[in-house]
Amino acid sequence: MALLEIRTYPNPVLRKKTTRVTEFNDELKALVHDMAETMYDAPGVGLAAPQVGRPIRLVIMDLSDKDEPRQLLVLANPEISEGEGTELAEEGCLSLPELTAKVTRFTHIKVKGQNIDGEPIEFEAEDWFARVVQHEVDHIDGTLFLDKISVLKRAMYKKKCKKELAEKQG
Ligand code: NI
Repeated sequence: MALLEIRTYPNPVLRKKTTRVTEFNDELKALVHDMAETMYDAPGVGLAAPQVGRPIRLVIMDLSDKDEPRQLLVLANPEISEGEGTELAEEGCLSLPELTAKVTRFTHIKVKGQNIDGEPIEFEAEDWFARVVQHEVDHIDGTLFLDKISVLKRAMYKKKCKKELAEKQG
């Protein structure tokens, strides 16, 4: 068990091409465990493997309320097969510190993938749940919500990151 380092923009691993999960073994279970610990600690509602430096098609989510028991959803090789309706709403991302912006997403989606044991799963998601799934699936396609916001807001954020990086490097 360990907390993993969350990679932030512009770390290139966030843009790397990901490979499918093919082995549903103890190593994968250990990774999921560490990712969950990292997500709960952050805290966040979703985390994709590239965010912890692993370019594979694996995402986790937990949308349960604070006073509810945890409900971890593990999705390997997720695919969104259908999308309907759209809504513009605010998002944030653990890999984009201090950025929140409105992003258009489907309000209703159909999702296919595999669970932690490699068994096929299929479900429908709506609203906030659908939004989180789309955000996480974007991550494994190398897309950040930064890519989907206004040109001006994106330029400002990139400039801020560049400045911070330069300061860090002294
Ligand atoms: Ni994110």
